[in-house]
Amino acid sequence: MDTDPQSLIQAALQAQERAYCPYSEFPVGAAIETASGKIYQGVNVENASFGLTLCAERVAASTAVAAGDRDFAAIAVATPGGVSPCGACRQFLAEFNPVLPVVMVDSLRPGEIRQTTLDVLLPGRFEGPT
Ligand code: THU
Repeated sequence: MDTDPQSLIQAALQAQERAYCPYSEFPVGAAIETASGKIYQGVNVENASFGLTLCAERVAASTAVAAGDRDFAAIAVATPGGVSPCGACRQFLAEFNPVLPVVMVDSLRPGEIRQTTLDVLLPGRFEGPT
């Protein structure tokens, strides 16, 4: 992450406005910065068949990968309350950077951020069959 995470935080908050969450009414926006300095956004995308829901973090990660940009440098996630990414998203992100810096933003109080790293959130990730 560049030393000032503000642009990444703003990108997550901006994405959150585009969340598609008519069922949970819990909007999530994510923004991933790569080593190239580019930022990729994602939102949660829900479905009437609830189990098909995509989390914002995985949408952002997949968008970056589809652009050929897999060197993840940091992620910011904006939610009401500033909650941390779900377990599935932690595993998904760890595929690309197991020590990824994670910034959690409370969209109800955008000044309130928490910062950690993925190895703290997900010790003992699955690394594949041995
Ligand atoms: N959600 C995310 O987008 N990311 C997470 O890490 C946890 C949950 C979404 C899924 C669903 O649309 C809503 O938040 C409520 O669970």
